[in-house]
Amino acid sequence: MAPFQRFSDQTNAAPLPPPPPSPSPFLCTANPSPTPHPKIGQISSIVFRLPSVKFTGQLDMEGALTARGRVGIQDFVLLDETTEEAFLSNLKKRFNKDLIYTYIGTLLVSVNPYKELDMYNSKQMDLYMGVNFFELPPHIYALADNAYHTMLTEFNNHFILISGESGAGKTEASKKILQYYAVSCPSTALLNTVRDKMLMSNPVLEAFGNAKTLKNDNSSRFGKYMDIQFDSEGEAVGGHILNYLLEKSRVVHQNHGERNFHIFYQLVQGGEDDLLHQLGLERDCQHYKYLTQGECAIVSSINDKNEWKTVKNALQVISIDEIDTNHLFGIVASVLHLGNIEFDPDSKGRALLTNKAALRWVSNLLGVDAHTLQEGLTSRKIEAYKDQVLSPFSIDHAIYARDALAKAMYGQTFTWLVNRINESMENKDSTRKTVIGLLDIYGFEVFYVNSFEQFCINYCNEKLQQLFIQLTLKSEQEEYEAEDIEWEPVQFFNNKIICDLVEEKHRGIISILDEECLRPGEATDLTFLDRLEDKMGNHPHFVTHKLADKVTRKTLERGDFRLLHYAGEVTYCVVGFLDKNNDLLYRNIKDLMCQSKNAIVRECFSTMALDSRRRPETVATQFKSSLLKLTEILMAKEAWYIRCLKSNESKQPGQFDEALIRHQVKYLGLMEHLRVRRAGFAYRRKYEVFLKRYKPLCPATWPHWRGMPADGVEVLIQHLGYLPNEYKMGRTKIFIRHPRTLYATEDAYERCKHELATRLQAKYRGYRAKGEFRKQKEAATKIETCWRGVQARKEREKRAWAVKVIKKFIKGYMTRGEAKNTDNSEYLVFVRQSYLNRLKLNLPKTVLDKTTWLTPPAVVKEASETLRTLHYRLMVRKYVRGITPQKKAQIQMKLVTSSLFKGKKDGYPQSVALPFLDTRISEQDINPKVLQLIRNERIKYTVPVVKYHRNGFKPKPRQLILTQTAAYVVDEAKVTQRVVYSFLKGISVSNLTDGTVVFHITCEDPKQKGDLVMQCDHLFECLTKLAVIANKQDVVTVVQGSIKIETQPGRESAVDFSTGPEPMVYKAKNGHLMVVTTRARVR
Ligand SMILES: Nc1ncnc2c1ncn2[C@@H]1O[C@H](COP(=O)(O)OP(=O)(O)O)[C@@H](O)[C@H]1O
Ligand SMILES: [Mg+2]
Repeated sequence: MAPFQRFSDQTNAAPLPPPPPSPSPFLCTANPSPTPHPKIGQISSIVFRLPSVKFTGQLDMEGALTARGRVGIQDFVLLDETTEEAFLSNLKKRFNKDLIYTYIGTLLVSVNPYKELDMYNSKQMDLYMGVNFFELPPHIYALADNAYHTMLTEFNNHFILISGESGAGKTEASKKILQYYAVSCPSTALLNTVRDKMLMSNPVLEAFGNAKTLKNDNSSRFGKYMDIQFDSEGEAVGGHILNYLLEKSRVVHQNHGERNFHIFYQLVQGGEDDLLHQLGLERDCQHYKYLTQGECAIVSSINDKNEWKTVKNALQVISIDEIDTNHLFGIVASVLHLGNIEFDPDSKGRALLTNKAALRWVSNLLGVDAHTLQEGLTSRKIEAYKDQVLSPFSIDHAIYARDALAKAMYGQTFTWLVNRINESMENKDSTRKTVIGLLDIYGFEVFYVNSFEQFCINYCNEKLQQLFIQLTLKSEQEEYEAEDIEWEPVQFFNNKIICDLVEEKHRGIISILDEECLRPGEATDLTFLDRLEDKMGNHPHFVTHKLADKVTRKTLERGDFRLLHYAGEVTYCVVGFLDKNNDLLYRNIKDLMCQSKNAIVRECFSTMALDSRRRPETVATQFKSSLLKLTEILMAKEAWYIRCLKSNESKQPGQFDEALIRHQVKYLGLMEHLRVRRAGFAYRRKYEVFLKRYKPLCPATWPHWRGMPADGVEVLIQHLGYLPNEYKMGRTKIFIRHPRTLYATEDAYERCKHELATRLQAKYRGYRAKGEFRKQKEAATKIETCWRGVQARKEREKRAWAVKVIKKFIKGYMTRGEAKNTDNSEYLVFVRQSYLNRLKLNLPKTVLDKTTWLTPPAVVKEASETLRTLHYRLMVRKYVRGITPQKKAQIQMKLVTSSLFKGKKDGYPQSVALPFLDTRISEQDINPKVLQLIRNERIKYTVPVVKYHRNGFKPKPRQLILTQTAAYVVDEAKVTQRVVYSFLKGISVSNLTDGTVVFHITCEDPKQKGDLVMQCDHLFECLTKLAVIANKQDVVTVVQGSIKIETQPGRESAVDFSTGPEPMVYKAKNGHLMVVTTRARVR
């Protein structure tokens, strides 16, 4: 049933690839260049002027290339082939995985998913904040963020054009962008309120300006352009809304399946009981004529009750006070009451008002006189010769007047609301702001019956398409010309022809409509159609029943005209065109409203009345001029595009209606856009700017290029290795054909930037480190100095101390002889101590050592003596403890020897060290006979001796054996002499070293042979033993010179002793025995 025809079928628009041989009149060539570019051929490349700012340093081609998503391709520019099939298939692939966004370069294509996707949360917002455009999957936040950052860096104005047909998701998109800015921009408490107002203006405007249509349950029935103002810090500081042509006719009439504006239902469903009572309303939509025509007051997808709360709250946020709020709802209610006012004909066919109750409520709520109101609704004042005459209305007339009042009231109130919102969002600070404009305007719309509103809406879309073409293609071409770059033409569909058809002065449809409205005489919608047919008869985009060929005529009613829009053909029914364009309100009603006690109504109608002397501009003309203004506003800004596509007509999630989408892709010019993006030069930049950015990449241009910027760029790109076909040098700009070239450069720049940063960092770190080092060194020096000072002071103290000590020492030394006093006390202590220490190390080691005892200083003489005694005692004690019994016996013997000979006989000292043996002859050497003989007497000692014979002193070797009782002189087996000890009266030896001994024997015993003279080598030993055994110590005598002997009783002789050079024993001439010894060595 939709009278949409396939765009391509009708127009041959954008017939890519190769166009038909004779291009259709709808095809324009961007530059009618006589020689098409040889390389590219007929369909050559051009570059849409996608604002070059979008390719600021934030792009990352690598990102885009690698971001070929797992599902389809994220940027159509990267499609292998630019066919519609490939395009749709990619779109579908992504849509099926809920990936509703895809780029064409920096244009965002969005497909309405008709379901909530979890991709608009704050986490996602964070993710996209300040991130390069192509680094993350396509998202509306990425576009919003890029526009924002470009605005900040370039300090210029931007707008985001959101286009697409009704229900494609434009309003949602604009809300998402607003929310993104609300979250991502820096803010203060003050700005938060501005931000809240911006956000909350939406539910209010939607309540009053949106309605359920067949296409969209929340269709915007007005156009909206919202500027968000940012200060240089990027804070959102204010906002301003421009509204366009509210579809007022909806207030009084709704098509089947459609609703009036949301606010009516919200009030009736959600309004508090008190409020409804005050307003005289029933909680039932069916009660109101204006709400029941579409027969769908209650819709499951819309929760009017909840929305009511939201709107009430939002009204507070945007600073609409209680009084105004009451007035506002008074108006809404009075519109509903107005709709219920009906008329009956009287006998003359004049209108009589029937529902007085409704009338009273209206007069009540608006604060106007009920009677005058009734008069105004049923008649009009005619001025005739200064008199005012009431001319009664027919029923139709009265209905018209009633509806006109309802529409005017509602329409004016809407404008009032927008103004109030603007006031509350206004930023009064005069510093320069940059803005991002959001254009969310009704999309291209085709209904079963299309009227004046659709005509305006679709005209608006033609204008926006025109703007798009202008902003992209045409300016592109102009730039090429300006830059003296050869234009590579591309064919595109230029819809200027349709815009002209609608808006051209004197010849366009609007002009003709206005003429019909103004001309005197009986002008009707049909006469208007006639005029159109007259004037547009052979226009290729205009068809009526009369003008059409046979086939087409079948699709047209008599009262229809059809426009072949760029987006497709739309048939309009002319009924109502004149009235809607005139939008007339009778004077008496207007005047009455100016006296209203409802402040809003009074205000609105008073401003209307101001210029009532002039005939007001028609609605179409007003709309035309507001669009013109809009175009101017937009032309002064950098453009960003969001193209919204509707996935299906039935608002179902997951349904991808290929035919529907194919159609939208076509009329939104997406394929053209894509081809253009892939063709000509994707990027251009002023030489200065390009050089300034990329000069670090070439040693010749870094850090300064002194020549012309263009030359610098040339040097730079030669260095970077650009190929000749990758770029062109214009007059003031460089043109780069492929994004990849730029991306590569950008990547290099990014790397280089990091290197530079690293270098700077390194330098800075070096600088810091040096500073740190210097500081440390200074600190070290300081510490060193202090330490040296400390050391020096210590040294000085030590020396002072030493001097004192030495002085004291010397003084002590000098007075050491004195009794202990203060001067010498320490010295003496020292002397004592040092003596004791030395003594400790030099003690005599043996008892016999009598010489090594250290000579003590005077002060310790006494102590030394005591110590010495102690020490010797100690040694003796040790010695004594260490000796064996044998040794003891030996010593006792030696003691006896000592007592006998010490100091008396020479040779004694030498004998001391020689130990005594037990005996000198072993028992075997004694003759057994002798042994037998003396068996009863124990042998105590034996020694070999030389016995001198009594007569003549002949020496004879003998053994001397000492027993317990007697001494035996033994010659071999014979005892030559036995001396019983009791007869031994004396024993004599000389004082010399000889070994001669004389035993003096008592002569009473006749058996005795006289004294015994012997020579014994072990004299001391032998005599000591004898003395001990025989207890004869007292009889041993040491004699000097000579010993008298009795050789026989009575016969005396002597042994004489002398010293001589040789020891000798001989019988001297005097008959004595002469013993000569050598002189003992004096020790
Ligand atoms: N991004 C989206 N995610 C989910 N649903 C969406 C999205 N965009 C649009 N819609 C649905 O489509 C409906 C129509 O969208 P809307 O923005 O009002 O269309 P338009 O303004 O283009 O007429 C919305 O009410 C919503 O249900
Ligand atoms: Mg909308």
